[in-house]
Amino acid sequence: MSRTTVIAFANNKGGSGKTTTCSNVGLAMAKAGKRVLLIDGDMQLNLTLSFFDEDRALGFATEEKNIHTAVKDEKDLSDFVVETQYPNLDIIPSSSLMSSIEYDLFTKWQREFILKKCLSPILARGYYDFILIDAPPTLGGWVMNILTVSDFIIIPVEASPWGLFGLANMFDFISQVKNLNPRLEVMGIAITKADERKSYFKQTYETLKEFEAARLFNTYIRIDSSIEWAQDNSQPVVAYKRYSRSAIEYTKLAKEIIEYAGR
Ligand SMILES: Nc1ncnc2c1ncn2[C@@H]1O[C@H](COP(=O)(O)OP(=O)(O)O)[C@@H](O)[C@H]1O
Ligand SMILES: [Mg+2]
Repeated sequence: MSRTTVIAFANNKGGSGKTTTCSNVGLAMAKAGKRVLLIDGDMQLNLTLSFFDEDRALGFATEEKNIHTAVKDEKDLSDFVVETQYPNLDIIPSSSLMSSIEYDLFTKWQREFILKKCLSPILARGYYDFILIDAPPTLGGWVMNILTVSDFIIIPVEASPWGLFGLANMFDFISQVKNLNPRLEVMGIAITKADERKSYFKQTYETLKEFEAARLFNTYIRIDSSIEWAQDNSQPVVAYKRYSRSAIEYTKLAKEIIEYAGR
Protein backbone atom coordinates (compact mmCIF):
# COMPACT_ATOMS: atom_id res chain seq x y z
CA MET A 1 0.00 0.00 0.00
CA SER A 2 1.62 3.27 -1.06
CA ARG A 3 -1.30 5.56 -0.34
CA THR A 4 -0.73 8.31 2.22
CA THR A 5 -2.85 8.12 5.37
CA VAL A 6 -4.12 11.53 6.52
CA ILE A 7 -4.90 11.95 10.22
CA ALA A 8 -6.39 15.04 11.88
CA PHE A 9 -5.83 15.78 15.58
CA ALA A 10 -8.92 17.72 16.57
CA ASN A 11 -11.00 18.71 19.57
CA ASN A 12 -12.87 21.98 19.86
CA LYS A 13 -11.70 22.22 23.44
CA GLY A 14 -8.40 24.12 23.75
CA GLY A 15 -5.57 22.72 25.86
CA SER A 16 -6.63 19.13 25.31
CA GLY A 17 -3.21 18.07 24.04
CA LYS A 18 -3.78 18.21 20.26
CA THR A 19 -0.49 19.88 19.38
CA THR A 20 1.61 17.92 21.86
CA THR A 21 0.11 14.68 20.59
CA CYS A 22 0.48 15.61 16.91
CA SER A 23 4.17 16.60 17.25
CA ASN A 24 5.19 13.61 19.35
CA VAL A 25 3.23 10.99 17.43
CA GLY A 26 4.69 12.47 14.23
CA LEU A 27 8.26 12.27 15.47
CA ALA A 28 7.76 8.78 16.93
CA MET A 29 6.40 7.62 13.55
CA ALA A 30 9.39 9.17 11.76
CA LYS A 31 11.74 7.41 14.18
CA ALA A 32 9.95 4.16 13.34
CA GLY A 33 10.96 4.75 9.70
CA LYS A 34 7.71 6.23 8.41
CA ARG A 35 7.77 9.28 6.15
CA VAL A 36 5.71 11.94 7.87
CA LEU A 37 4.45 15.39 6.93
CA LEU A 38 3.01 17.59 9.69
CA ILE A 39 0.67 20.47 8.93
CA ASP A 40 0.24 23.25 11.48
CA GLY A 41 -3.39 24.33 11.09
CA ASP A 42 -3.58 26.69 14.05
CA MET A 43 -2.86 30.42 14.17
CA GLN A 44 -1.11 29.91 17.53
CA LEU A 45 1.82 28.30 15.62
CA ASN A 46 2.33 25.85 18.47
CA LEU A 47 3.15 22.94 16.18
CA THR A 48 5.65 25.08 14.25
CA LEU A 49 7.14 26.21 17.58
CA SER A 50 7.55 22.56 18.59
CA PHE A 51 10.34 22.37 15.97
CA PHE A 52 11.64 25.91 15.46
CA ASP A 53 12.45 28.89 17.67
CA GLU A 54 10.26 31.97 17.56
CA ASP A 55 12.39 33.90 15.03
CA ARG A 56 12.35 31.04 12.59
CA ALA A 57 8.62 30.43 13.13
CA LEU A 58 7.78 34.09 12.50
CA GLY A 59 10.11 34.00 9.47
CA PHE A 60 7.85 31.46 7.78
CA ALA A 61 5.07 34.03 8.02
CA THR A 62 7.03 36.85 6.39
CA GLU A 63 8.53 34.51 3.75
CA GLU A 64 4.97 33.39 2.98
CA LYS A 65 6.12 29.80 3.57
CA ASN A 66 3.02 28.81 5.48
CA ILE A 67 -0.36 27.14 5.26
CA HIS A 68 -2.27 30.43 5.24
CA THR A 69 -0.59 31.78 2.09
CA ALA A 70 -1.06 28.44 0.35
CA VAL A 71 -4.74 28.01 1.16
CA LYS A 72 -5.69 31.66 0.64
CA ASP A 73 -4.13 31.65 -2.86
CA GLU A 74 -5.09 27.99 -3.52
CA LYS A 75 -1.49 26.97 -4.23
CA ASP A 76 0.14 23.53 -4.47
CA LEU A 77 1.28 22.72 -0.91
CA SER A 78 4.39 20.92 -2.23
CA ASP A 79 6.06 24.34 -2.39
CA PHE A 80 5.40 25.03 1.30
CA VAL A 81 7.08 21.99 2.83
CA VAL A 82 9.95 22.69 5.24
CA GLU A 83 12.34 20.05 6.58
CA THR A 84 12.63 19.67 10.34
CA GLN A 85 15.93 18.70 11.99
CA TYR A 86 14.72 15.09 12.15
CA PRO A 87 14.99 12.57 9.29
CA ASN A 88 11.68 11.54 7.67
CA LEU A 89 9.85 14.47 9.26
CA ASP A 90 8.70 17.56 7.33
CA ILE A 91 6.30 20.32 8.26
CA ILE A 92 4.13 22.97 6.65
CA PRO A 93 4.28 25.89 9.12
CA SER A 94 1.41 28.12 10.16
CA SER A 95 1.04 31.90 10.32
CA SER A 96 -0.81 34.15 12.72
CA LEU A 97 -2.77 35.33 9.65
CA MET A 98 -4.66 32.03 9.99
CA SER A 99 -6.89 34.17 12.21
CA SER A 100 -8.62 35.34 8.99
CA ILE A 101 -8.90 31.93 7.33
CA GLU A 102 -12.68 31.66 7.77
CA TYR A 103 -13.06 34.96 5.95
CA ASP A 104 -10.54 33.96 3.25
CA LEU A 105 -12.42 30.74 2.56
CA PHE A 106 -15.85 32.24 2.60
CA THR A 107 -16.11 33.48 -1.00
CA LYS A 108 -14.39 30.47 -2.56
CA TRP A 109 -16.16 27.96 -4.74
CA GLN A 110 -16.43 24.55 -3.02
CA ARG A 111 -14.91 26.14 0.04
CA GLU A 112 -14.94 22.95 2.13
CA PHE A 113 -12.42 21.35 -0.25
CA ILE A 114 -9.70 23.99 -0.67
CA LEU A 115 -7.16 22.21 1.56
CA LYS A 116 -7.90 18.97 -0.28
CA LYS A 117 -7.20 20.69 -3.59
CA CYS A 118 -3.93 22.24 -2.29
CA LEU A 119 -2.81 18.89 -0.87
CA SER A 120 -3.74 16.76 -3.87
CA PRO A 121 -0.34 16.97 -5.67
CA ILE A 122 1.40 15.72 -2.49
CA LEU A 123 -1.19 12.96 -2.07
CA ALA A 124 -0.87 11.98 -5.73
CA ARG A 125 2.88 11.47 -5.31
CA GLY A 126 2.28 9.15 -2.35
CA TYR A 127 5.72 9.91 -0.90
CA TYR A 128 4.56 10.28 2.69
CA ASP A 129 3.21 7.38 4.75
CA PHE A 130 1.38 9.79 7.03
CA ILE A 131 0.19 13.37 6.96
CA LEU A 132 -0.76 14.61 10.44
CA ILE A 133 -2.79 17.80 10.72
CA ASP A 134 -2.95 19.82 13.95
CA ALA A 135 -6.39 21.48 14.06
CA PRO A 136 -7.31 24.67 15.94
CA PRO A 137 -9.85 24.51 18.81
CA THR A 138 -12.78 25.55 16.60
CA LEU A 139 -15.56 23.88 14.62
CA GLY A 140 -15.89 25.98 11.47
CA GLY A 141 -15.10 25.99 7.78
CA TRP A 142 -11.36 25.54 8.23
CA VAL A 143 -11.69 22.46 10.44
CA MET A 144 -14.26 21.25 7.91
CA ASN A 145 -11.47 21.58 5.28
CA ILE A 146 -9.11 19.59 7.50
CA LEU A 147 -11.65 16.81 8.01
CA THR A 148 -12.74 16.54 4.37
CA VAL A 149 -9.16 15.61 3.42
CA SER A 150 -8.61 13.25 6.38
CA ASP A 151 -8.98 9.47 6.53
CA PHE A 152 -9.00 9.48 10.32
CA ILE A 153 -9.53 11.80 13.22
CA ILE A 154 -7.89 11.34 16.59
CA ILE A 155 -9.44 13.24 19.49
CA PRO A 156 -7.07 14.07 22.35
CA VAL A 157 -9.04 14.53 25.57
CA GLU A 158 -7.61 16.03 28.74
CA ALA A 159 -8.24 13.89 31.83
CA SER A 160 -9.68 16.80 33.82
CA PRO A 161 -13.09 17.54 35.35
CA TRP A 162 -14.03 19.59 32.25
CA GLY A 163 -12.17 17.44 29.73
CA LEU A 164 -15.31 15.85 28.31
CA PHE A 165 -17.18 19.12 28.04
CA GLY A 166 -18.18 19.88 24.45
CA LEU A 167 -17.34 16.41 23.14
CA ALA A 168 -20.96 15.97 21.96
CA ASN A 169 -20.57 19.06 19.72
CA MET A 170 -17.45 17.51 18.27
CA PHE A 171 -19.33 14.33 17.34
CA ASP A 172 -22.24 16.33 15.85
CA PHE A 173 -19.71 18.18 13.72
CA ILE A 174 -18.05 14.94 12.62
CA SER A 175 -21.38 13.50 11.49
CA GLN A 176 -21.96 16.65 9.38
CA VAL A 177 -18.52 16.29 7.80
CA LYS A 178 -19.31 12.67 6.94
CA ASN A 179 -21.85 13.98 4.39
CA LEU A 180 -18.90 15.54 2.55
CA ASN A 181 -16.32 12.85 3.37
CA PRO A 182 -17.98 9.48 4.02
CA ARG A 183 -14.52 7.90 4.38
CA LEU A 184 -13.76 9.82 7.59
CA GLU A 185 -13.39 7.53 10.60
CA VAL A 186 -12.79 8.38 14.23
CA MET A 187 -9.71 6.29 14.98
CA GLY A 188 -10.00 6.92 18.66
CA ILE A 189 -9.84 9.12 21.71
CA ALA A 190 -6.44 9.59 23.32
CA ILE A 191 -6.43 10.61 26.98
CA THR A 192 -3.76 13.19 27.82
CA LYS A 193 -2.48 14.78 31.05
CA ALA A 194 -3.63 11.77 33.05
CA ASP A 195 -2.98 11.80 36.79
CA GLU A 196 -3.76 8.30 38.05
CA ARG A 197 -4.00 9.49 41.65
CA LYS A 198 -6.92 11.78 40.90
CA SER A 199 -10.46 10.45 41.07
CA TYR A 200 -11.52 12.42 38.00
CA PHE A 201 -8.93 10.58 35.94
CA LYS A 202 -10.66 7.28 36.79
CA GLN A 203 -14.03 8.86 36.01
CA THR A 204 -12.88 10.19 32.64
CA TYR A 205 -11.27 6.85 31.83
CA GLU A 206 -14.34 4.77 32.75
CA THR A 207 -16.71 7.13 30.91
CA LEU A 208 -14.64 7.04 27.74
CA LYS A 209 -14.12 3.28 27.96
CA GLU A 210 -17.93 2.85 27.84
CA PHE A 211 -18.38 5.58 25.23
CA GLU A 212 -20.25 4.29 22.19
CA ALA A 213 -19.29 6.94 19.65
CA ALA A 214 -15.58 6.10 19.59
CA ARG A 215 -12.98 3.68 20.86
CA LEU A 216 -10.33 4.60 23.38
CA PHE A 217 -6.62 4.03 22.66
CA ASN A 218 -5.02 1.57 25.08
CA THR A 219 -2.18 4.00 25.68
CA TYR A 220 -2.87 7.16 27.64
CA ILE A 221 -0.41 9.97 28.28
CA ARG A 222 0.29 10.87 31.89
CA ILE A 223 1.09 14.33 33.20
CA ASP A 224 4.79 14.92 32.74
CA SER A 225 6.71 18.16 33.28
CA SER A 226 9.27 17.02 30.66
CA ILE A 227 6.69 18.01 28.05
CA GLU A 228 6.86 21.66 29.04
CA TRP A 229 10.65 21.60 29.24
CA ALA A 230 10.76 20.09 25.78
CA GLN A 231 8.45 22.77 24.38
CA ASP A 232 10.58 25.44 25.98
CA ASN A 233 13.46 24.03 23.90
CA SER A 234 11.48 23.90 20.63
CA GLN A 235 11.55 20.10 20.63
CA PRO A 236 8.99 17.33 21.02
CA VAL A 237 9.59 15.36 24.22
CA VAL A 238 10.23 12.22 22.15
CA ALA A 239 13.48 13.94 21.06
CA TYR A 240 14.22 16.15 24.06
CA LYS A 241 13.97 13.44 26.72
CA ARG A 242 13.48 10.14 24.97
CA TYR A 243 13.40 8.04 28.15
CA SER A 244 10.87 10.22 29.97
CA ARG A 245 7.55 8.56 30.62
CA SER A 246 5.62 10.75 28.19
CA ALA A 247 8.15 10.04 25.42
CA ILE A 248 7.73 6.31 26.01
CA GLU A 249 3.93 6.66 26.10
CA TYR A 250 3.83 8.71 22.90
CA THR A 251 6.01 6.12 21.18
CA LYS A 252 3.52 3.42 22.23
CA LEU A 253 0.59 5.52 21.06
CA ALA A 254 2.28 6.05 17.67
CA LYS A 255 2.70 2.28 17.35
CA GLU A 256 -1.03 1.77 18.03
CA ILE A 257 -1.88 4.36 15.37
CA ILE A 258 0.47 2.85 12.77
CA GLU A 259 -1.03 -0.59 13.39
CA TYR A 260 -4.60 0.66 13.25
CA ALA A 261 -3.94 2.43 9.96
CA GLY A 262 -2.47 -0.84 8.68
CA ARG A 263 0.86 0.70 7.65
N1 LIG B 1 1.10 15.02 29.34
C1 LIG B 1 1.28 16.32 29.66
N2 LIG B 1 1.83 16.66 30.84
C2 LIG B 1 2.00 17.95 31.19
N3 LIG B 1 1.64 18.99 30.41
C3 LIG B 1 1.09 18.73 29.22
C4 LIG B 1 0.88 17.39 28.78
N4 LIG B 1 0.29 17.44 27.54
C5 LIG B 1 0.16 18.75 27.24
N5 LIG B 1 0.64 19.53 28.23
C6 LIG B 1 0.62 21.01 28.28
O1 LIG B 1 -0.71 21.43 28.18
C7 LIG B 1 -0.83 22.58 27.37
C8 LIG B 1 -1.82 22.33 26.25
O2 LIG B 1 -1.35 21.30 25.40
P1 LIG B 1 -1.48 21.43 23.83
O3 LIG B 1 -0.91 20.22 23.23
O4 LIG B 1 -0.94 22.75 23.38
O5 LIG B 1 -3.08 21.42 23.65
P2 LIG B 1 -3.98 21.95 22.45
O6 LIG B 1 -3.17 21.90 21.20
O7 LIG B 1 -5.14 21.00 22.42
O8 LIG B 1 -4.41 23.33 22.78
C9 LIG B 1 0.58 22.88 26.87
O9 LIG B 1 1.09 23.94 27.64
C10 LIG B 1 1.35 21.63 27.12
O10 LIG B 1 2.69 21.90 27.46
MG1 LIG C 1 -2.77 23.40 19.78
